[in-house]
Amino acid sequence: MIGGDHFLTAPVPIDNSLGELLEGDLGYISFFASGRDALATLLAALPQAAVNLPDLICKSVHDACRAARKKCIIYRIGADFLHNDAAIARTGPSIIYVMHYFGVRNDALIRQARNAGSTVISDVTHLLFDRVGLLEIARHSDFLVASLRKSGPFPDGGFVSSLQHRPPTPERGLREEFLALRAAGLWSRGFSAAQGFVDDENYHLLKRAETALDTSEPADFACSYLSRRLAHSVVVDASAAVIRRNIDVLVTGLRGRVILADAASQISPYFPCLFDSDGLRDHVRGALAARRFFCPVHWPCAGLPVPSLLATRSLSIPCDARYDETVMQSIVKVIKLCLPC
Ligand SMILES: Cc1ncc(COP(=O)(O)O)c(C=O)c1O
Repeated sequence: MIGGDHFLTAPVPIDNSLGELLEGDLGYISFFASGRDALATLLAALPQAAVNLPDLICKSVHDACRAARKKCIIYRIGADFLHNDAAIARTGPSIIYVMHYFGVRNDALIRQARNAGSTVISDVTHLLFDRVGLLEIARHSDFLVASLRKSGPFPDGGFVSSLQHRPPTPERGLREEFLALRAAGLWSRGFSAAQGFVDDENYHLLKRAETALDTSEPADFACSYLSRRLAHSVVVDASAAVIRRNIDVLVTGLRGRVILADAASQISPYFPCLFDSDGLRDHVRGALAARRFFCPVHWPCAGLPVPSLLATRSLSIPCDARYDETVMQSIVKVIKLCLPC
């Protein structure tokens, strides 16, 4: 099954792990219960009244800005996953939230924002397996923010880091309900995968965990030791190599069929496909789901102030190190069958 959640195994710390990369190379770092908790806490500590946000975002990012009482100013993202709104570069000095979608680094926006005297917060959730890219973005941003659980079997977790400024730290304890439900769901998923269980206990637990998080205000909750320890068991470079091979299969198979962005040369656990219409995207998503390939949409616009046109046409293929080239080839085949000749 592709697109199912990662599952928990006992953590065995290794060299060159994700934990080492985060705790060793990113300067000051504070771990929070989730990406939105990290962002809300950081924003609350910054003096600016407004934050510039891209239109293509997860609702939880917008919620974090509102929880920190910031005014949200929205800028547009184009089909290359870069900003296509020249005015954003002239906004300043303010806070600019820069997403590096699917590993596509928006270096130009960082440069323009810094020239305008703005504070740059880079969202590196999709960049955690790109060691070089991550460090480069860290050097040029004021702060990095990320959610951990998109990149591995982490029950909870997010962080704020900075090479220059000491970020705020969590003052509260764990998000116990979220953490417990997610840990149980990830564990149950491991058993289901190993034993071939047909019931979907893990799905319900994981869904309830997300509901527990979504229905609570983002705040300075702490990350569990369990997730921090698990980050020391994730091999960055070996995972990156598998991701690259998986992306190569998708790019080779789909080139010229779905519009592929610069993501073709990146290392991200999700690979974006852009379709001509929402109808076609939904048809492809359904066909993949029927074969148990579950692909998320980054991100549904419901509840956001400005709907993104990209969100209605994009579909993300999970291509992380759990999967191999054979799985990617099957996905290519399903997508091609759905596309008009
Ligand atoms: C790119 C990105 N950044 C931040 C977040 C927020 O992270 P969390 O769900 O851990 O609060 C998400 C959530 O989907 C995300 O996709």
